[in-house]
Amino acid sequence: MSNENKIQANEKAWRKLAKDHFETYKKRLLDPNTKLNPLVENELGNIKGKRILHLQCNTGADSILLARKGAIVTGVDLVEDNIKYARLLAKEFGMDDLTFVTSDVLKLIGKIDDQFDLIVTFDGVIGWLPDLNQWGKVIHHYLKPNGEFYLHDAHPLALVFDEEKMAHGKMIARYPYFGKDPDMDPYIGGYASDAKLAENYYWNHTMEEIMMSLINNQLTITYIKEHEKCVIGMGGDVVDDDGLSYYKNFLSKIPMALSLKAKK
Ligand SMILES: C[S@@+](CC[C@H](N)C(=O)[O-])C[C@H]1O[C@@H](n2cnc3c(N)ncnc32)[C@H](O)[C@@H]1O
Repeated sequence: MSNENKIQANEKAWRKLAKDHFETYKKRLLDPNTKLNPLVENELGNIKGKRILHLQCNTGADSILLARKGAIVTGVDLVEDNIKYARLLAKEFGMDDLTFVTSDVLKLIGKIDDQFDLIVTFDGVIGWLPDLNQWGKVIHHYLKPNGEFYLHDAHPLALVFDEEKMAHGKMIARYPYFGKDPDMDPYIGGYASDAKLAENYYWNHTMEEIMMSLINNQLTITYIKEHEKCVIGMGGDVVDDDGLSYYKNFLSKIPMALSLKAKK
């Protein structure tokens, strides 16, 4: 199966979750204290007045949270239904100035006629993209000179281990760190809705691939942080008082999440 067909399968799979995600996130956003992933919140700092491009925005909940911090946000997602619900969600919260665009991130060039102070993408994103070099090109294209890029995602090393075995105290390397082929999962979701039966494809990327895709596209990496804990839903079997998650048998043994900033 070609990567094009795998992306189509992913689109179909994510589409199945769109309505449930919209409903879950609508409930969460009704609470004015709802925040972004606390690690992201802390690392982004003050974004008031910044023009932000939010890649893989799902049904727009995090785009709305970025806008609540005073940013001017454009969200992008592969799934038309996600974008339809993102617009609806923004409307329900009286935030008419958000812009949402349906597109494969890797095919975004030409679809938005603007450049941004900040491009952000976080919480379960790069594994859906087969070609990080093209991703780097897109980021470079849409950043203003001196603009900044921010990524926060599962750490590539954490993704090597069998998540079910980790929860039972066993560390078994299941997914090859240097694997070129994506992992096929028959189920999608489970973090903001029930998991649904829908074949989907996920590409593990190495640290080298992530960093070189930016470096090769004239972006300068200015910050890297490997986190011992991650946001709920990205792995782990214990949650701490800050709402961060980790495997109780493996705290401080493996990095759970990765943050990175780069400048144009
Ligand atoms: C785990 S979610 C991102 C996290 C988000 N904060 C959430 O609440 O679900 C991954 C998102 O990536 C989107 N996606 C997957 N492949 C994509 C692609 N090639 N281009 C753009 N978006 C894509 C999916 O539609 C989905 O909304």
